[in-house]
Amino acid sequence: MRSSAWFGADGRPGMIYRSWLRAEGFTPEVFDGRPVIGIANSWSELTPCNAHLRGIAESVKRGVWQAGGFPLEFPTMSLGESLMRPTAMLFRNLMAMEVEELLRANPIDAVVLLSGCDKTTPAMLMAAASADLPAIMVTGGPMLNGKFRGGDVGSGTHVWKFEAELAAGRMTPAECVIAESGMARSCGHCMTMGTASTMACMAETLGMQLPGSAAWPGADSRRQLTAMLAGQRIVSLAREDVRPSQIMTRAAFENAIRVNAAIGGSTNAVIHLLAIAGRLGVPLALDDFDSLARDVPTLVNLMPSGRYLMEDFCYAGGVPAVMAELGDLLHTDHVSVTGHTLAENIADAQCWNRDVIRGVADPLQPAGSGTAVLRGNLCPDGAVIKQSAASPELMRHRGRALVFDSIEEYHEAAVRPDLDVDPTMVLVVRGAGPKGYPGMPEIGNFVLPTVLLERGVTDMVRISDARMSGTGFGTVVLHVAPEAVAGGPLALVRTGDVIALDVPARSLTVEISDDELARRRAEWLPPASPHRRGYAQLYVDHVLQADRGADLDFLVGSTGAPVPRHNH
Ligand code: FES
Repeated sequence: MRSSAWFGADGRPGMIYRSWLRAEGFTPEVFDGRPVIGIANSWSELTPCNAHLRGIAESVKRGVWQAGGFPLEFPTMSLGESLMRPTAMLFRNLMAMEVEELLRANPIDAVVLLSGCDKTTPAMLMAAASADLPAIMVTGGPMLNGKFRGGDVGSGTHVWKFEAELAAGRMTPAECVIAESGMARSCGHCMTMGTASTMACMAETLGMQLPGSAAWPGADSRRQLTAMLAGQRIVSLAREDVRPSQIMTRAAFENAIRVNAAIGGSTNAVIHLLAIAGRLGVPLALDDFDSLARDVPTLVNLMPSGRYLMEDFCYAGGVPAVMAELGDLLHTDHVSVTGHTLAENIADAQCWNRDVIRGVADPLQPAGSGTAVLRGNLCPDGAVIKQSAASPELMRHRGRALVFDSIEEYHEAAVRPDLDVDPTMVLVVRGAGPKGYPGMPEIGNFVLPTVLLERGVTDMVRISDARMSGTGFGTVVLHVAPEAVAGGPLALVRTGDVIALDVPARSLTVEISDDELARRRAEWLPPASPHRRGYAQLYVDHVLQADRGADLDFLVGSTGAPVPRHNH
């Protein structure tokens, strides 16, 4: 065991390592060479979605002790999507770096990763990939279904809907206060198929979390059971020295891309999976998300693409039922943290509600309706659109651009009663990419101008270098790369230019000549970054563009977890 370099050491160093830990009241047997299992806990009261993870950690510990390991829980950075400014995404890489270094610096043989809220799951998977110690993920599970006036309310998804209803005068502020009280009814992360649920499903599909465990609600006792089983299993993984690099293979990522299409998963999965793959040296490209998903129908009828929520998904069979339905579209010989192949893991999987998890023969949306990757003179390095959450009549659209240099500028204009806008126009917001904001916030599904909402308009083509909340919807083109601040063509578009979106042809173009683009480029001056110190400067100087996962360039790759030099 790696930890024997600490606890098995002779003389003074070993005494120091053991003695200080015994201050916590452990008996000497814990140093007998048994696997030391770190429990990396992103618990925080500032991350409501992860606030119950201390309890989950206790269940993990039970399992670890049962299986003969020595559990040691430690806190990690935590990223609360709903509270952090300018955006939790700015800190995903910082958390990944922090967790990676904690794993490397401490006497840990294997780790259970406790995550939940959007960015905590990819950050921990990135860390585990780079440290490459045996690891299992336990996500905290979704909240119970939100409720308002007898109906289901989806976290995030209904925030956008209520915002539009309020702006259109169909809801009062007082009604919104009542609605918000029923939206987050229990512990857990957002219960729509937003980014947290998507990444939990991705962790399960990649093979890094136990089968079926992504969907158990945070408040369900089986969430605790899953944690305990993970605690038992991680001890075996430590003894067998099974590493994340052996689990998260190219086949695992291909499965993840296909399952993401089937569940109607978040566009953020594109960025996070690219970043995780980058840590492992697994060749994965933006275009893989389009080509691999083209023959996969959307099966899962969950908000924002459909009508149900994660609690329903869980009771309908969860990820194993989706995988069983996809069958040969997946690499069924892929081996997960269970030590078994995917085929073995899902052998008994069944669907218990065909309206929640549809069959391939009767899908929610036909094959090829997942995330599409666009190319063209407006996005030479790509852009994405979530087709299942977009309006079919706008998938081919030409319109005059209405351009804003920041989301703040747009918000100011959007409420003006005299705003010169009509529903055929294409709304462009730039300056919201990885470097631009910084951190690539989730503003891509910005609410429509008030004058149009009042006329009953519900969707328009929107384009940005930002991301969108996984709970969001609409005909929104996201992740335009290169971003405007990095000098991408998005920076050169002007109000009145005609933009053509053709999703079936996978193209996004601005109808101006190359000469005109070159002339505008010659006039363009990159904006000076206001971030000249600290993490924000480090981030802006080193962040990669969206098509490469928005990781920091010096964090790409893995160095494993060799035993560091000691200081005693
Ligand atoms: Fe944490 Fe949505 S705010 S998952």
